[in-house]
Amino acid sequence: MTDLFSPYKMGKFNLSHRVVLAPLTRSRALNGVPQPALVEYYRQRSTEGGLLISEATPIAQEGIGFPHVPGIYTEEQIEAWKKVVDAVHDKCGLIFCQLWHAGRASHKIYQPGEGAPISSTSRSISENWKILMPDGTRDNFSKPRALETGEIPKVVEQFRQAAVNSIRAGFDGVELHAAHGYLIDQFLKDGINDRTDEYGGSIENRCRLLMEIVQVAVAAIGSDRVAVRISPVINFVDAMDSDPLNLGLTVVKQLNALQADMGMKLTYLHVTRPRYLPSPEQIGTENEEVKLMQTLRRAYQGTFMSAGGFTRELGMIAMADGDADLISYGRLFISNPDLVYRFKINAPLNEYIRETFYTHDPVVGYTDYPFLDQESNDKDYPMTKVCSREN
Ligand SMILES: Cc1cc2nc3c(=O)[nH]c(=O)nc-3n(C[C@H](O)[C@H](O)[C@H](O)COP(=O)(O)O)c2cc1C
Repeated sequence: MTDLFSPYKMGKFNLSHRVVLAPLTRSRALNGVPQPALVEYYRQRSTEGGLLISEATPIAQEGIGFPHVPGIYTEEQIEAWKKVVDAVHDKCGLIFCQLWHAGRASHKIYQPGEGAPISSTSRSISENWKILMPDGTRDNFSKPRALETGEIPKVVEQFRQAAVNSIRAGFDGVELHAAHGYLIDQFLKDGINDRTDEYGGSIENRCRLLMEIVQVAVAAIGSDRVAVRISPVINFVDAMDSDPLNLGLTVVKQLNALQADMGMKLTYLHVTRPRYLPSPEQIGTENEEVKLMQTLRRAYQGTFMSAGGFTRELGMIAMADGDADLISYGRLFISNPDLVYRFKINAPLNEYIRETFYTHDPVVGYTDYPFLDQESNDKDYPMTKVCSREN
């Protein structure tokens, strides 16, 4: 029976288990450049044949929506990422770079010349949501400027260049961040996108930006190095859609059609469900979420990764039921650098400390969560040997 420790062939990559590090913004990259602390953090979480996804990584300064996040658009950033990637590869792990543009989920303080953030719309995120500022305080999101149709190719090009830069830094692939209310999701969701051009209105039009970005990324670095993350049901920063199932299914159908056209698959589709931050109206709707995830899983013709509120037990159940090929873990991986090992031997877990999720200390709440036994930090995990990560 398939479980979290069954090996998995993800396109050309050989994974020795199904426990993936979810993309996690940690705000430890001072001045937008990965620091030695990031090298240690990702090294700690690497396992032989295990997949890590980097924190959301802006593709341009305009894409920043959090303090101290590492970019992938300058030579200095690319050079610094190489050290992170090398540390993961030294442990025979794999790492994808999550490419991110925050769109309107930003503040003018993060923007070039303190200009307005860009979006599909000129409507602001409501004041129910606040943005984290560099000094640790919270403020309202800034009013965005709706992109002119003729400006959209520039954004698509920034994603393409960032994909190329990621491969130059040594990443094994990229995950396009089309989830959680950021720029691509601001085009996907009808609760935000109020455009009247070919990027708004019908569901196909709202998917256009995502599909253009997928296609340029595939053309630049190959389909087997490109993955997509979506969150049809997550309404973080007002990212509501009136028909999340139809939206999710349309993205899936378009990705399937693209794959059929190319005769090749993307690396994976990653779907998040909202359990980690349920809004009052979502509480009690877990069964609908599970059904939506299962429907998308059945419809997608490729590797399916699921995230959101998974424990070891829930991950094992999802594997046994065939509800996903891979599970990504967020908060549990923050506080358990050796999560894979602990899951393997069913050991107790460290609890995470929410207060230090986004603080900037290079050690505290970042690389100082204890290993089960300090030796397991350095010794091999009891996994199948698959150091040839791809074949
Ligand atoms: C501190 C923190 C930072 C996060 N940063 C990102 C991110 O950069 N990109 C992203 O797609 N999701 C991000 N997420 C969402 C996680 O990837 C994941 O989907 C979520 O935490 C649910 O998984 P969990 O229940 O295992 O924590 C973040 C979550 C947390 C708690």
